[in-house]
Amino acid sequence: VPAGADLLAEINRLRKERNAVILAHYYQRPEIQDLADYVGDSLQLSQMAAETDADVIAFCGVKFMADTAKILSPDKIVVLPDMDAGCSLEDSCPPDKFKAFREAHPDHIALTYINCSTEVKALSDVIVTSSSAETILQQIPKDQKIIFGPDRHLGGYLSRKFDREMLLWPGVCIVHEAFSETELLKLKEQHPDAPIAAHPECPPTIVDHADYVGSTSGILKFAQDFEGDTLIVATEPHIIHQMEKALPEKNFIGAPGADGNCNCNICPYMALNTLEKLYTALRDLEPRIEIEEGLRLRAKKSLDAMLEMAS
Ligand code: 13P
Ligand code: SF4
Repeated sequence: VPAGADLLAEINRLRKERNAVILAHYYQRPEIQDLADYVGDSLQLSQMAAETDADVIAFCGVKFMADTAKILSPDKIVVLPDMDAGCSLEDSCPPDKFKAFREAHPDHIALTYINCSTEVKALSDVIVTSSSAETILQQIPKDQKIIFGPDRHLGGYLSRKFDREMLLWPGVCIVHEAFSETELLKLKEQHPDAPIAAHPECPPTIVDHADYVGSTSGILKFAQDFEGDTLIVATEPHIIHQMEKALPEKNFIGAPGADGNCNCNICPYMALNTLEKLYTALRDLEPRIEIEEGLRLRAKKSLDAMLEMAS
């Protein structure tokens, strides 16, 4: 594997040679965000994957995102730099247990967060992302009973905001669960005029203090528009890279964990992808996402429902 400038040059050479598009989530390392063709939230990256005319999608994100790209673009080669880039929400929701839960509540539909396995998508009716969940929920009749999984904090937030009862799957994101209310309030004392922007994967102890609650793209938009010079950001801190690039004169502070800094909130799964692994993925076209066709088609139904209802 070449180093430094040679590594970047090789990635650029390979992406042309392979007719590859590099998609990156806002939680990726800054150097990956900077060379990606497109950086976005989970919904935007799914839409890009569905629309691209590239032959190869190099997905710099976590596995459920790369799986989603393959479900929507089965003819493309989809590579994920590190196959171990999972997600605690996906892990919290084994398909057999989810199936049993659904079967125990036959009069409920399953509205499911995109952070889950392909098998769980295939067992769901409509997928949502944090940027599309509110729009989609408002299109579901008031008397329709709902199971929401696997993120109980996003589900709880939606349930409170729209006054809708939902049966919640008990999963959490280990990253957003790690913010400390005590430390956040101490930080707020030091910066009383700084608004707090939080992702809905945070527990109520955090979102209840937030001035804005939304997806990564929503938080970025809030960062563009807020008045004042300091913003406290309660989501994975790599997103701050985009804020600092767009607004270098402003001050963005990652919300703290129990140790008083934001490093414990780096997503360990997202961090597995590196430039070196992206290079070898483009070189070898491995590790590659493969999904059995019957399963893919079943999962695609709930994703198509999302794409239609989100637009
Ligand atoms: P969004 O980018 O859709 O807000 O999702 C955040 C996330 O946790 C992805 O894993
Ligand atoms: Fe999963 Fe949380 Fe990491 Fe997002 S930040 S990939 S929800 S563990």
